[in-house]
Formats: sequence, C-alpha cells, structure tokens
Amino acid sequence: MTKNKDIACYSPGLAGIPVTESAISSVDGSVGHLEYRGIDIEQLAEQSSFEETSFLLIYGYLPKEDELASFKANLCHHRRMKFRIRDIMKCFPESAHPMDSLQTTVAVLGMFYPLPQGINGELSEEDVRIVCLNLVAKLPTLVAAHARMRHGDDPIPPRDDLSHAANFLYMLTGNEPTPLMERIMDVAMIVHAEHTLNASTFSTIVTASTLADPYTCISAAIGSLSGPLHGGANEDVLHMLDEIGDVSRVESYLHEKLANKEKIAGLGHRVYKTKDPRATLLQELYVELTKEMGEDPTYEIASRIEELSRSTLGAKGICPNVDFYSGIVYRKLGIPTDLFTPIFAIARVSGWLAHWKEQLGVSRIFRPMQIYVGKKGEHYIPVDKRG
Ligand code: COA
Repeated sequence: MTKNKDIACYSPGLAGIPVTESAISSVDGSVGHLEYRGIDIEQLAEQSSFEETSFLLIYGYLPKEDELASFKANLCHHRRMKFRIRDIMKCFPESAHPMDSLQTTVAVLGMFYPLPQGINGELSEEDVRIVCLNLVAKLPTLVAAHARMRHGDDPIPPRDDLSHAANFLYMLTGNEPTPLMERIMDVAMIVHAEHTLNASTFSTIVTASTLADPYTCISAAIGSLSGPLHGGANEDVLHMLDEIGDVSRVESYLHEKLANKEKIAGLGHRVYKTKDPRATLLQELYVELTKEMGEDPTYEIASRIEELSRSTLGAKGICPNVDFYSGIVYRKLGIPTDLFTPIFAIARVSGWLAHWKEQLGVSRIFRPMQIYVGKKGEHYIPVDKRG
C-alpha cells in the first residue's frame, strides 16, 4: 500500500515536484518569461546594473539611491582577498579547472571569515549582510586571480573606481574595458544572476537546510554548477562550434548527432519549452558587440544550428538556452573558454545568496525519501565461503 503511494509521487530528477516556497524569481517556460522579484529580466537588462540587481535579489526590493551607493561602496571594500588565500591558490596545479579552484577557494573563505558560534539559524542581520557582500564582491577576484596565477602572472588587485563588471574584466586582462564591453559584461551578469530552483540553487538550499555555513553552501552550489548538464554547457557549446568549424558543416553535424541520439549543447531546458529569454538577450548583446569588434565565424555557425534545429528539435520544445550564446559573447570579450562557467558563478552567487537567506527562515532539513529496489533478507557469507 505505502509502496504504491510512494511510486505514484516518484518523479526522476524531481521534475514537476515543488520542494520549497520562494519569492525570489519566477519563470513561465511556455512563453519564455523570467522575472526577478516580479520585474521582468528584459527591463533589468536594459535599465539596471549587476550591483542593483544583486541588491534586488538579496533584499527583495529595488534600493533607494543612498542604499545603492552604500551597497556598491561596500562591495568595492570587500573585493580584496587575503594574501594567505593567494598563497593557497599558488599550490593548485596549473592544470586545475577554474571551477575546481573557485569551489575550493570559496570553501577556504569560510575558514577566514568564521561566523560567531557557527551558524545555528540565529545569525544577526549584520552577519548576513557581511556574508553576502563578501561573497558577491570576492568571487570575481578569486576567478581573475586564478586565471592569472595559473600562467605564472601576479594577480591584479581590484580597483575601487570601477563597476563590478568593469573591475572583473580589468583584473582579468589588466586593461580597462570600453564602455560597451563593460555594459555587455554587466548585462550578461544580470541575466545569469538568478533562475529559480535549478540544480545549483537546489544544492544551496539543501546544504543551507542543514545549517551549514554559507561559504559551504556556495561552494556546494559551485560544484553543482560545474557539471556539463548545468553551467558547464556553455563551454561545450564553444567546443562544439569549434569542432564544426564551418557553417557548411552544420547540417551534417546535426544529422549525425541526432541520428546517434546525442544531445546538442546549449539546446533544451527542463523549464523552457520555447527559446530562453536570456538566450535572446545574449544574442542581442553579441550583435551589439560586433559593431565595435567585428563579426566572428562561430556566431554564423550557432545561428545556423538554431535555424536548422527549429523544425526538428524546436517542435519538441528544445530551443536555445542561456548557454547557447553566452560563450560566444564571452569569447568576443577575449575571455578563455574555461572561465565561462566561473563567470556564471560570479553572477549566480547573488541568486544563491538570496535563496540561502530565504532558507534561513525555513529551518527544516531536506530529507527526501527513496524507493528501495535492492535485495532484502540476504545472509552474510564469510569471505572464504564466497564462490
Ligand atoms: N539535443 C538533442 N535532443 C535533446 C536535447 C538536446 N540538447 N535536449 C533534450 N533532448 C531530447 C532528449 O534526447 C529527449 O528525447 P526523447 O524524448 O526522444 O528521449 C527529450 O529531448 C527530453 O530530454 P531530457 O534530457 O529528458 O530533458 P530534461 O528536461 O531532463 O533535460 C537538459 C534538460 C538541459 C538537461 C537537456 O536538454 C540537455 O542535456 N541539454 C544539453 C545540455 C545543456 O545545454 N544544458 C544547459 C541547460 S541550461
């Protein structure tokens, strides 16, 4: 009796199963609509900044002028990293993936910024404020520092006079970006900042539900984001475009992949059954960027994939997702492919923190159940009697 009831509500991957209530963002996958705190993503991309969007996500409302100024100043103040963290990073192998470096250094941050008495659900507002500032501000520094140190270069210290987006590009390259490059990075970060209960956000709240410290929660989220079915797909898209190499090869490539029942990177989404609105925004950004920086053959290949897949996969609701065009934008900005997912994390940390904060008020550990399908009533056999 119990068994049948359990099987009835079993949904692999928890598809369609609500596991929490949240007031942070909402998606209508049937029409491709995404809102942060009730404001649609297109308005935020056009009018907001990453800093303001982070505030909106974490605190639940658009900041007044003085609140925004203070939030930005505090983010600048928390950008620097301790030299001991840099020393730890020096020991990472040069071949380490930047996501592994980021996951590790975020966990390390927790040791340098311990919370009073551990976290037992009674963090002060000030503790929460510092955690959020520290993580949003420091992730770009950690990513840029690792990107330089793996090539034997010194990290470039952050600059207080630059925005979050411009400072990241500056720490990465040593050059101040043009206003268009800065704006494009800023919008890319806005559109990646939050997306309801995806795998990495779920990892955040599952870890938070144990009352683990927030650095551990964000480190867990980064690990989850690193997988190719989640954030890692943006790297796969670029590898795929490079492998195809020429727009004339797109048709045969798609034909072969689909005949072998293989997936096309950057297409498909658990929630969106139409084109992801973030893919549309990123595609527009790319086109804007080409006005300053010229065309790129990978874009032609990508748009041909989109066009050809429309009749076959599009009919099944498999359309470009956020990762399909993000990598092309980042490459145009001169960013190496293996930094695409860390950049996703730099932006998404705002959403993760908003969910972490929301989870603090819930205080119920996640403990789903399983349907046991293994053996029962077996007898232990001593090692010398095993056939
Ligand atoms: N290319 C080709 N076929 C795809 C596909 C893709 N990118 N994504 C899904 N499909 C097909 C599946 O093969 C399956 O076909 P079937 O019904 O004939 O077996 C069907 O669509 C459903 O796919 P499924 O994997 O069950 O959907 P899901 O909701 O569990 O998975 C993703 C969603 C994102 C994991 C999946 O679309 C995917 O792997 N995409 C590529 C990786 C990617 O871009 N990830 C980033 C997501 S933001």
